[in-house]
Amino acid sequence: HPLDQLIRKLPKAELHLHIEGSLEPEMMFALAERNEIVLPYASVEAVRAAYNFTDLQSFLDLYYAGAGVLQTEQDFFDLTWAYLKRAQADHIVHTEIFFDPQTHTARGVEFLTVLEGIRRALALAEKQFGITSKLIMCFLRHLSEEDGFATLQDAMPYLDRIDGVGLDSGERGNPPEKFARLFARCAELGLPAVAHAGEEGPADYIWQALDLLHSRRIDHGVRCTEDPALVARLAREQIPLTVCPLSNLKLCVVNDLAEHNLRELLAAGLCAMVNSDDPAYFGGYLNDNFIACRDKLALTAQDIVQLARNSISASWLPAEQQAFWL
Ligand code: ADE
Ligand code: ZN
Repeated sequence: HPLDQLIRKLPKAELHLHIEGSLEPEMMFALAERNEIVLPYASVEAVRAAYNFTDLQSFLDLYYAGAGVLQTEQDFFDLTWAYLKRAQADHIVHTEIFFDPQTHTARGVEFLTVLEGIRRALALAEKQFGITSKLIMCFLRHLSEEDGFATLQDAMPYLDRIDGVGLDSGERGNPPEKFARLFARCAELGLPAVAHAGEEGPADYIWQALDLLHSRRIDHGVRCTEDPALVARLAREQIPLTVCPLSNLKLCVVNDLAEHNLRELLAAGLCAMVNSDDPAYFGGYLNDNFIACRDKLALTAQDIVQLARNSISASWLPAEQQAFWL
């Protein structure tokens, strides 16, 4: 399609990418073998065949199990490096990646092992590919506030290597307000915040993420259109929404990509952009998400340029570096 060349060549930032969600089944098998772990699947094809999700939780169950093959610093390096090579192929010039320390520390993997494996790959990508990056530490919202505070304690010696904090995992029944005190402490420490909200959860969780967590962006946020006053606020304050179309499709947030509200968000003047979330599980990296939306939502060249520009302007790059890409 003529617009796909535009999609491929535009400089883009990715702002919603869980590094554990870039674990391809091939690497899952390779790391299982290297670490002498027996997987409950016979083959790479059997793993892929299991990726038939009905909602967020049905995905999270497999995602947390899959992450069990990640054990050494080299494993985290290899995982992150594989993503960064894909990012370069998609002409991503800047990426802000999430990691979930609790998924690993709960299994006895050291916080520093995770952090340094990821960071070593990010540093190499900046040197070899010129891809800049930020690293965002996410708290798992299905776990307790106390567990979140313990994770922040683990991170304390390394805050110079962490650019911000996020909130992810099962949204329903785990409202942002559960973590208001934890995020207040993070703010005192100078850590900017983002939060997943309005993916499966109601528009009220987006209000909470803004007012109680002081979230600078909303991850997903697609359910905001259920509340016109909220849409007006998101537009007025230009709060970015890191939208993940193929994720929303695979997790049945929408039944058909043609029904996705991405164009409606843009038309309302919101700073929305496209991201891949967990590309190894949802069937595509960044450009695949763009192309699927171009196809099913009939994105125009103007929409595509706007989405790419929004990704740069919603990033945490300093203004002068944003200006270079805009
Ligand atoms: N962790 C990884 N992907 C996620 C998503 N889409 N929503 C919530 N938590 C996640
Ligand atoms: Zn996510």
